[in-house]
Amino acid sequence: MKVFFFILSLTSLGLADEEINSRYFPEGFKFGVANAAPQIEGGWIEDGKTESIWDHFAHTHPEMIIDGSTPDIASDSYHKYKEDVALVKAMGLDHYRLSIAWSRILPTGYTDKVNQAGVQYYKNLFAELKAANVEPMVTLYHWDLPQVLEDQLGGWLNETVADLFAEYARLCFELFKDDVKMWITINESKQVCQVGYGMGAYAPGVVSNGIGEYICTKNVILAHAKAYHIYDEEFRATNKGTITIVIDTTWFEPGSDSEEDQEAAERMLQFTFGLYANPIFMGNWPQVVIDRIAERSELEGFSSSRLPAFTDEEIVYIKGTYDYLALNHYSTLMVNATADAPIGDPSYDNDISVLTWRQPEWPSGSADWFAVVPWGMRRLLVWLKKTYGDVEIIITENGLSDNTGIMEDDHRVSYYQGYLSACLDAIYEDEVNLSAYTAWSIIDDWEWTLGYTSFLGMYYVNFTDPERTRIPRKSASWFTNMVATRCLVDTCTE
Ligand code: BGC
Repeated sequence: MKVFFFILSLTSLGLADEEINSRYFPEGFKFGVANAAPQIEGGWIEDGKTESIWDHFAHTHPEMIIDGSTPDIASDSYHKYKEDVALVKAMGLDHYRLSIAWSRILPTGYTDKVNQAGVQYYKNLFAELKAANVEPMVTLYHWDLPQVLEDQLGGWLNETVADLFAEYARLCFELFKDDVKMWITINESKQVCQVGYGMGAYAPGVVSNGIGEYICTKNVILAHAKAYHIYDEEFRATNKGTITIVIDTTWFEPGSDSEEDQEAAERMLQFTFGLYANPIFMGNWPQVVIDRIAERSELEGFSSSRLPAFTDEEIVYIKGTYDYLALNHYSTLMVNATADAPIGDPSYDNDISVLTWRQPEWPSGSADWFAVVPWGMRRLLVWLKKTYGDVEIIITENGLSDNTGIMEDDHRVSYYQGYLSACLDAIYEDEVNLSAYTAWSIIDDWEWTLGYTSFLGMYYVNFTDPERTRIPRKSASWFTNMVATRCLVDTCTE
C-alpha cells in the first residue's frame, strides 16, 4: 500500500543537477494523460450504476480511507466529462486513458441487464474525444468490481469471475467497436490481488497473505487472457486496434555490487513484475517465484504450493496475450539481501525475503514509497528490454503525488522533466522501443485509501466546491508546451 507522510519541499528536489536530455522526442512518439472511472467519475449510483467494491469499501470502512472520504462524487467527471476532454484537447495530447466502470454498464455484474444510460455516458465521452481528435485508451478494469460479484462469488478468488470479466469485455468490444481502438484489459494485477486479497488494505479488504493473493493473481491473468482471445478472434480484424494488460513496478536497485544484493534485487523484480508479466510474455510464473513459494509452502506444512500452478494448456493459452508492454512506474527503492524470513505464517513478503529502503538523499514525493529517481525509470526500461526482448513499450502511468496540492508545482515540473529525460535516454542511448508516454494525471482525483489528500493532477480540483472547478497548476502549462515543442529544454537538437 502507498501511504503518504511528508510534505515535499520545492527546493529539495535538486533535479536541476540532473542532466536533461536535449533531443527531440522521435517523430510518432505519442503523449497522453490517464485516469480511471472510480477516481474521477462520481455518480456512484446515478442512472442505474450499482456499487463497486471501492464504493462499498469506502462506505463500510471509512477507517481504511485516510480522510474517511468516498468516491461518491469525486471529480464529478460523470457530469463534467466535456470539460475534461476540452482540457485534454487544449494540452495537445494524442490519447486519453480512461476506464469503464463495469457496474455502470452491467449493474447486476452479469450480462443479463445492460444499462443503456451507462452505455450512453461512454458513447458521449467517446464522441467528445473523437470531435477533439483524441484517441481513447480504454481500461476495462481499474479495480472496481461490481460489489454483487464480491458478495455472491467471492470476487477474484473465484475463477468464475474471470469468465464474467470476459463476457463483460466482449460486450464492451461490441458496444464500442466504432469508438475505441486502444484496449487495456486490467490495471495493475498486483494492486488488485496483493493489496486487495492479500494485505486487505484495498477493496475488497480480504486478508489472505500469501494465499488469496496468488489465487487472485491466477484468476486475473486468466481473465485478461480470455478477454485478449475474444478480442483477437472476434473483433481484431474489424476493430483493427490493440489490446494488452497494464503492469506496474517500482525499480529495485541493488544495495551493493555483491552477488547476494544483485540477486535480491532481481528476485524482487521477479516477484513484483515477473509474477504478473511472465505468464503473459514468456509462459508460466518466473522460476524463482515457483521455487521459493513451493519450498516455503512445504516447510509451512501445505500439501501443495500456495502458488496455484498453470496447466500446460493454460500456459499456452496465456502466453503471447499482449500487443505491447504497458508499464505504470512511479518510483525506486534500494534492495539488500537478508536472511530468509523464519517459517511461520505464510506471506508474500516472507516469500521474497529482501530488505528495501530509500536513499536518504533522494527527494521525497511526500510519501514513504515515493522517491523521485528518474534514472530508475531508465534502468527499468533497460531491464524490461533485457528480460522480455525488444518489445514495444508504452508508459501508461507516471507522475508525482504530493499532499499539498500546491499550484506552483515546480516539483512536478521537475519530476516530469527528469522522467521524460530518462525516457529519451532509454530511446536514444539504449534503443528501448518506447513509443508513448502517459502522465498520471490531468486532474486531481480520489486517490483510493488516500482519499482527497494526495494530488497528482496538472489541474487542481477543489473537492469542497460543488462545481469541482478545474484550475491549471504550473505543470499544466509546462506539459502543454512540452507536447507542442516535443522538447524538454529551451532548445533541442535532432
Ligand atoms: C494506479 C492509479 C493511482 C496511481 C497513483 C497507480 O497505481 O493505477 O489508480 O491513482 O497509481 O497513486
